[in-house]
Amino acid sequence: MRVAFVNPQGNFDPNNSYLASHPDFGGQLVYVREVARALGRMGHHADILTRRVTDPEWPEFSGEDDAYPGDENVRILRVPCGPDRFLPKEELWPYLGEWAEGVAALYREEGRWPDLWTGHYADGGLCAALLEGPSGRPFTFTGHSLGAWKLDPLMEDEGGLPAADARYNFGARIGAERAAMARSAAIVSNSEAERREQYDHPAYRGAVEVRDDARFAVIPPGVDFDIFDPGARGPQEDETRENIRAAHERDIDPDRRDLPAVIAWSRLDPKKNHRALVEAFAGSGELRERANLLVITRGLDDPLREPGEAADEERPILEDLISTVDRADLWGGISAFGLSGQTALAALYRWGAETGGVFCLPAEHEPFGMTVVEAMAVGLPVVATQNGGPQETTDGGRVGLLVDPHDPEDIAAKLLRLLSDRETWKSYADRALERSHDLYNWRRTAEGYLQLAEEARRGERGGDPSFPIPDFARRPAPAELPRLRDWEARPGPRTG
Ligand code: F6P
Repeated sequence: MRVAFVNPQGNFDPNNSYLASHPDFGGQLVYVREVARALGRMGHHADILTRRVTDPEWPEFSGEDDAYPGDENVRILRVPCGPDRFLPKEELWPYLGEWAEGVAALYREEGRWPDLWTGHYADGGLCAALLEGPSGRPFTFTGHSLGAWKLDPLMEDEGGLPAADARYNFGARIGAERAAMARSAAIVSNSEAERREQYDHPAYRGAVEVRDDARFAVIPPGVDFDIFDPGARGPQEDETRENIRAAHERDIDPDRRDLPAVIAWSRLDPKKNHRALVEAFAGSGELRERANLLVITRGLDDPLREPGEAADEERPILEDLISTVDRADLWGGISAFGLSGQTALAALYRWGAETGGVFCLPAEHEPFGMTVVEAMAVGLPVVATQNGGPQETTDGGRVGLLVDPHDPEDIAAKLLRLLSDRETWKSYADRALERSHDLYNWRRTAEGYLQLAEEARRGERGGDPSFPIPDFARRPAPAELPRLRDWEARPGPRTG
């Protein structure tokens, strides 16, 4: 079987040169790379289709093709479109029709089509929809991040919808998502929660019916066990432990330095709800006696003492945390410091597991919650929000404890269940480790796509080929991209 990954944005190279250092080089690229490699290792063929860029600032992406060493069944194929230079994903829209034609030409030259196109993000979904016709091969759509959910909060900002739309081209993005959702053989979501909640946005009405099981396939992503495993100690292990030790010496009272830690790692975003965790410590003397709280941030060394260093949108969150820490006098039992990169994070989790700690993510809502699964994979037991993906990843609370993110007492009680009884802690750690390794591995994700290819071939899956593809994807593209009208984007009552 040959599976094509349609991913015009970002780019791929054997060294993953820009991963996590540019917004278009995030988790989606890891996902595509790892599913492709898993397929290759299973004896299938995978083509990662992306954009060819001839730009001295981005020298890695000028070749027509590339490969990952040792993964001979995986090809990275680059097809040019529009100007030579690198373009952020928001500016690619007028050139996607040209790009899809270039992809089709490449396969025509080879004399064969892939068996399945998998479109990633709105731009990849649109191009996969464009490629379905000429090839006669079905496509799946994996949204990764849906535009309407990014737009909702931006509509409250100054300038509202027109300003957000002008900056991010939401008209094009949501139009592309709608076409990809409606026309694809199946929409791939990471979890049931993501399916039910993300696709139920009013901006997608008429393109997808969230209750229609035949339109969806829930295929969870995998964890990188080369990094997130109890035995995967890497070169950053010692450096990270040194950072943890230094943070303890700086922030934690000497008589508390051997206590286990409750570890929180997530963006400083109101939705991640750090506040409830700090409130849990503020409200429970027993929790304070049993553990320290470590708040890990990216790029901030001492955010509780120097909140001014944080980005504008992070500062109010920190100020709010600081006022709780002051009020409850949590100083000496809390430390906030920066760690960057997945290997450092995995090293932190390993240290946390060895010292009897707990990972806690009390977010308002998590569509999947990869950090929870990564902590589980290292053997660090988890306390996570009951809203969204952790319901599934923790097997309804059986391998990790679920909390109401609005209830600090519940959070404190669940943390204490793990922290106050070594056997309970151990049984949750063991079960979390086992479940994450059994279920959340890329081979299973790859098998999910293969199954979809089979179902589409047998005619059991299919989209609506009459659903219109937006005009800007025509050749030549119209001069103006579509703009959203207010009623198209505004959140309304949910159907599901
Ligand atoms: O890499 C993860 C990811 O969700 C990509 O799919 C996408 O490039 C980006 O992060 C988020 O994009 P946006 O902010 O436009 O939703």
